[in-house]
Amino acid sequence: MSDKFGRVGVLYGGTSAEREVSLMSGQGVHEALRGAGVDAHLFDTGRYTLVDLINAGFDRVFIALHGRHGEDGTLQGALELLQLPYTGSGPMASSLAMDKIMTKKVWLQQGLPTPDYAVLTPDSDLDRVAASLGLPLIIKPPHEGSTLGVTRVDGVAGLRKAYELAALYDSEVLAEQFVEGRELTVPILGKGNTARALPIIEIVAPGGNYDYEHKYISNDTQYVCPASLDPALSASIQRIAEQSYTALKCEGWGRADFMLDESGRPWLLEMNTSPGMTSHSLVPMGAKAAGMSYAELCLEILSTACCKVQAPPAV
Ligand SMILES: Nc1ncnc2c1ncn2[C@@H]1O[C@H](COP(=O)(O)OP(=O)(O)O)[C@@H](O)[C@H]1O
Ligand SMILES: [Mg+2]
Repeated sequence: MSDKFGRVGVLYGGTSAEREVSLMSGQGVHEALRGAGVDAHLFDTGRYTLVDLINAGFDRVFIALHGRHGEDGTLQGALELLQLPYTGSGPMASSLAMDKIMTKKVWLQQGLPTPDYAVLTPDSDLDRVAASLGLPLIIKPPHEGSTLGVTRVDGVAGLRKAYELAALYDSEVLAEQFVEGRELTVPILGKGNTARALPIIEIVAPGGNYDYEHKYISNDTQYVCPASLDPALSASIQRIAEQSYTALKCEGWGRADFMLDESGRPWLLEMNTSPGMTSHSLVPMGAKAAGMSYAELCLEILSTACCKVQAPPAV
């Protein structure tokens, strides 16, 4: 066993809607780290408590959790308090990226391209929203992942139902202009001015419908990596991905989701700070196209594990 990383906990499972995906991500990371000689141990945060985590005696942890209480900054805050080094973004970047509305505010403030939007509450006048943003619209809960609660609405008649579905997940709902075109995603590693985008992946889903079924269950979605794009456009999308990541103060690793409209303009949809790490997942696919194996990717992410919040000077 290599003792460079000490005893490593792979945090997986959890209690979010994405538990099943996280179980697969964690198992993949655990197996790869063990294969590379790391003393790695699986730890299911859905079954065990923070007290158990303290007692497990890990030197650092690899976060392979997705969604609430894993990717959203809460766990990261607890790990800061415990002074237990962890992979990925810190509490602030994690919670910002978990909120698609806050994310868009930061991106717009930085001049980064993201579709126009409105925030819906139970009192919103949906007809007016449709009139001002135009149709089709995408209605989504701002805190979910894996396309849960996301609906494309083509006519005003469908708005209420789409709102009610998204409102099952969140009290505020995001209505966003629909971008017709190609779907792209860009993995990013590093932090600050060393952040670097990996090759772009294009997702080609049947009928352009990249939903939960197509993401995790069926085999009919195709992935093209590197995406077939003009080299200048590809480089510019990679720069936007890096800027979208550093604007939110992400670190370690992440994945920016984009739509490329029919005129060739990229639009940022969201930032994932703890993306899937299953064998089908997109970050490992981008890494592979850059010549990095799944195990090398896991080791690179693990090597950046640290606490992000600086302790104040002693008084
Ligand atoms: N504004 C949009 N225009 C077109 N398609 C969208 C838009 N927003 C979301 N989608 C589609 O819905 C999917 C899920 O949306 P996304 O914002 O990435 O949330 P999440 O992956 O967290 O569920 C995207 O992968 C894309 O296929
Ligand atoms: Mg997404």
